[in-house]
Amino acid sequence: MQYWQKEIETMPHKELVEFQLKRLKETLHSAMNSPFYKKVLSDSNISIEDIDSLDDLQKIPFTTKEDLRSNYPFNMAAIPLRQCTRLHSSSGTTGDPTVILHSAKDLDQWANQVARCMYMVGIRDEDIFQNTSGYGMFTGGLGFQYGAEKLGALTVPAAAGNSRRQLKFIKDFGTTCLHIIPSYATRLAEVMSDEGIDPRKDTKLHTICIGAEPHSEEQRKRIEELLGVKAYNCFGMSEMNGPGVAFECKEQNGLHIWEDYTIIEIIDPITLKPVPDGEVGELVLTTLNREAMPLLRYRTRDLTSIIPGDCPCGRTHRRLARFQGRSDDMIILKGVNLFPIQIETVLMQFKELGNNYLITIDTVKNSDEMLIEVELSDLFTDDYGVLQTLSKTITRQLKDELLLTPRLKLVAKGSLPVQEGKAVRVKDLRKFN
Ligand code: COA
Ligand code: AMP
Ligand code: ZN
Repeated sequence: MQYWQKEIETMPHKELVEFQLKRLKETLHSAMNSPFYKKVLSDSNISIEDIDSLDDLQKIPFTTKEDLRSNYPFNMAAIPLRQCTRLHSSSGTTGDPTVILHSAKDLDQWANQVARCMYMVGIRDEDIFQNTSGYGMFTGGLGFQYGAEKLGALTVPAAAGNSRRQLKFIKDFGTTCLHIIPSYATRLAEVMSDEGIDPRKDTKLHTICIGAEPHSEEQRKRIEELLGVKAYNCFGMSEMNGPGVAFECKEQNGLHIWEDYTIIEIIDPITLKPVPDGEVGELVLTTLNREAMPLLRYRTRDLTSIIPGDCPCGRTHRRLARFQGRSDDMIILKGVNLFPIQIETVLMQFKELGNNYLITIDTVKNSDEMLIEVELSDLFTDDYGVLQTLSKTITRQLKDELLLTPRLKLVAKGSLPVQEGKAVRVKDLRKFN
């Protein structure tokens, strides 16, 4: 068995826990330098000396996405800004987005984490690694980029979109590995088939990393079959750097979560109490080696469980089961995260629109799509030209807000189902649901 960092990856669990406790104390000390955590810890009368074991972590309050938003942009920084070298921010122009700050050391640690994951699934310096993720603020871009560079692979930073160009790179450069979102992998396979390309004969692809959105075991098998590759599930989130938080090994039996980087808790999202191994709950994470912006007990809102037992690969870091969705209403479409409230906020700015709307998400011809149907207000006009212009303006604003292009249909007042009680605004018809 080959490991990127054998000693850490196979550390006996008891030692790993001691290692975590030491790092937790360091993390708490640095968190005290952020105005946010200084207040949280002093308001809850917690002194770092009170933390003697990992169980004591439960004395500390949770951190939520709302905390990140209300401390936008820099109130959670634990080091001076001049020592920070990058920030990543979530989408959204209607409310305050979230910001995650990184120091140069944080970025190096993150690259190491991603390199460790890639090495685990057999990617080596002789590989040619093409990244189809968006770059810029999407952490799947730069996150995989620096990880693959640290590993020493030849990187092709193709970024998202333009499937024919992606295929040209795959063929011309002899790409062997891809990072790709599962829904886009099926789209790329379709374009290959349209172009008469047989991935087994005409490309050198052998390994792909798929993540950023929920997908089923069946979908993974289908992708493996369509592209003639092994596909490994990778999990990450911008709040925890990005990709590399948890990753499947070659056994494909759950995602090892790197416990030298993070402390894991799984809680019942209603009672907020821990759930036993094997039971599904919300993942809560504490960073252990981030200096610019440590996060304590961050409620990820992702639903998963800890898989009991050891993995035959020899790694001692525990495994998470395939992710089952979220405990909030966040939607992931084309690898982009969005909340229905963002859509509502844009729509409600137009006096020409009424209050009733319906969002339908589905897979159409191997591409995920979002249709937004919205009723016109009493100011309704049936002038085609006016409606076309209005539709274009609204679509543009939605695209700026969401970072993807929805299909918009303006419909007559009274034509959508009447919403009674708690309005059902979103119908997600994709297969993993
Ligand atoms: N990754 C890469 N390319 C994607 C994609 C994805 N998740 N989803 C769609 N695309 C491709 C489409 O196939 C299309 O190319 P093609 O017509 O040559 O096949 C092109 O991107 C534009 O897609 P379209 O659906 O028309 O555009 P959009 O405006 O709705 O979405 C994207 C724009 C795809 C650029 C935007 O959704 C995006 O950046 N997605 C990637 C997000 C990401 O990387 N997340 C990673 C987090 S770790
Ligand atoms: P982002 O912050 O944009 O990287 O998005 C992070 C979110 O994407 C996570 O909180 C999950 O909801 C989702 N996600 C990432 N990876 C996976 C995965 N492998 N399976 C399911 N959902 C995922
Ligand atoms: Zn394993």
